[in-house]
Order: sequence, then structure tokens, then C-alpha cells
Amino acid sequence: MKPDQSTRRARRSALYVPATNEKALAKLGSLACDVVIIDLEDAVGPDEKQTARDNLKRFFAAPSWGEREMVIRVNAMTSEWGADDLALAATLQPDAILLPKVDTPRDILEANDRLDGADVPAATTLWAMIETPRAILNLGSIAELGRDRSSRLSCFVAGTNDLVKETGISDVPDRRYLVPFLLQMVMAARAGGIDVVDGVFNDFRNLDGFARQCEEAAAMGFDGKTLIHPGQIEAANSAFSPAPEAVAEARAIVAAFASPENAGKGVIQISGRMVERLHLAQAERLLSKAAVAPS
Ligand code: COA
Ligand code: MG
Repeated sequence: MKPDQSTRRARRSALYVPATNEKALAKLGSLACDVVIIDLEDAVGPDEKQTARDNLKRFFAAPSWGEREMVIRVNAMTSEWGADDLALAATLQPDAILLPKVDTPRDILEANDRLDGADVPAATTLWAMIETPRAILNLGSIAELGRDRSSRLSCFVAGTNDLVKETGISDVPDRRYLVPFLLQMVMAARAGGIDVVDGVFNDFRNLDGFARQCEEAAAMGFDGKTLIHPGQIEAANSAFSPAPEAVAEARAIVAAFASPENAGKGVIQISGRMVERLHLAQAERLLSKAAVAPS
């Protein structure tokens, strides 16, 4: 079995929508985000939890979200709402269920057991919020589950607001104190063969600052970014789509290795630059990313 849970779907823009916001839910079909995450957790107040579940049920009864990936974020399994949320999500069978406050691999395995027990098809995967100090310390062992398809783990989501809250890290605009942990998430996701999307940008009216943060996240290796407002979709789609120059360069590398005079060679040169077969693999990955990123 191929140890790779990352899908060939684009996850450049993942928009959170509180399940209590019926007006926003009704408009989702017209938005260009790759993923929608319907939230039952942080964006829903303690007294609104049942209303949120009722809305979610109604929303899934009349699907209107087209091709995009649909994810439900449940409350933590340690909270009073977690078990009921997961049971409901199991009946709705979204593309993925996002588990918050994951601390250890066991948290994934237990949620997976519950889904298996409810006969939920393997097509419903599990995404994990990485937002606690324990999750950061356990990143390697959590990500390792990605290598076993039966664990369902397919994506990490950076929970930067919670991480700031839990650690006391100063949340300065350039995120210099968060970056080491963000890079660890990317590294772990790659080791586990899963995708990883960056945390949210709270100052949603500041589109320049948002676009800059998307560029930085793309440079760190993230597959996309979680969003809180429709105004952020376009910049995220653009930042996490491979640039035309990068696509052209990748095509040139693939063509060069495919040409008969380079058959069997480990290293060649293109325009004065050394290119090895590892660059070929990198180029193929970029082209497959470009192929799934709708323009
Ligand atoms: N998804 C879909 N539509 C959204 C949206 C979202 N996350 N956020 C706003 N909209 C819609 C609004 O409903 C509004 O629609 P309308 O023009 O038909 O009235 C339009 O976009 C413009 O919204 P705006 O007035 O600019 O913002 P707001 O004051 O209505 O909402 C927030 C601001 C931050 C409260 C809202 O964007 C939000 O709830 N975001 C998600 C928060 C969340 O899920 N957090 C948890 C993860 S961190
Ligand atoms: Mg949170």
C-alpha cells in the first residue's frame, strides 16, 4: 500500500463557517474555496451547540456545495459535546471530520474506532487540529498514522489561535515565534504523507497582510490556509497555486529526463543548472498540484 494519505484534491483555501450562521451556509455554493469547514466548536457558543447541530443536519439534507470538499469540525472528545457531535458527523458522512485539541495518536485512533463502529466508509477521513503543546511534542507519532490508510488521518490544520493561548507565544505580525512550530507541522505532515494547512489570519479586513502571510505559508511548504471570511479566498487560491514560471520549469525538467539522450542518467544540466532525478520527482509533484488547482 502506498504510504500517502494526501489526496489529489486542492486544499488551498479552507473556509470556516460557524454552523449557527444559516445565511453564510446558504451562500457556500457560490464561493470559490476548495474546502468548507463547518464549525461546531470554537465559533459556536455553549448555548448554541444544539442549534448548530440542527442546522448542520438541515444543510446536509439538501446538499448544495458542488465539488468542494466538505469538512465538519466537531467539539473535542473530552468536552460534553464531542461524542454527540461525532455521532452526528458519522451519520452525515462528510469528506472529513476535523478533530480539535488532538494531543496524541490515541485521539485519532479512538475517533477512527468510533467511525469504524458506525460503519462509516473510508472515504470519510480524519483531519487533526495541531494546537496544543502536547500535539507539537507528539507530532511525529501522530503523523506516522498517515502512513496507514486505515487510520483515516489525511490532513493537519494549524490551530494558531489556540497555540498562542496555550503557550504564551507572542503573536507578532511576522509570526516569528510561531514559525518553528509551523515548520515542524509541515515536516511531520511530509513524513506521514498527509496534507497540512496553515492557521487563520484574524484581521480579516487587512487583505495585504493576509496575502503576505499566505505567501509565507506557501514558502514554508503548507498546502493551503484556513480562512474565516470569503474576502480571503482569492488571495489564498492564488498563493497556493503553483506559479506559471514554476510550472514551465517543471515541464522542462520532465521533458529533459524523458528525452532519449538522457535515458538512464542520474544527473543532467538544463540551462547551466544541475538537475538530478530528485528534481524530477519534485517537478512531477508540482505538476500534479497544478493539475488539481482550478484557476
Ligand atoms: N463563510 C461564509 N460567509 C461568510 C463568512 C464565512 N466564514 N463570514 C462572513 N460571511 C458573509 C456574511 O454572511 C456576509 O454576507 P451578506 O453580505 O449576505 O450579509 C458577507 O460575507 C460579508 O460579511 P461581513 O459583514 O464582512 O462580516 P461579518 O461581520 O458578517 O462576519 C465574522 C465577520 C468574523 C464574524 C465572520 O466572518 C465569521 O464568523 N467567520 C468565521 C469564524 C469562525 O468560523 N471561526 C472558527 C475558526 S477560527
Ligand atoms: Mg480552537
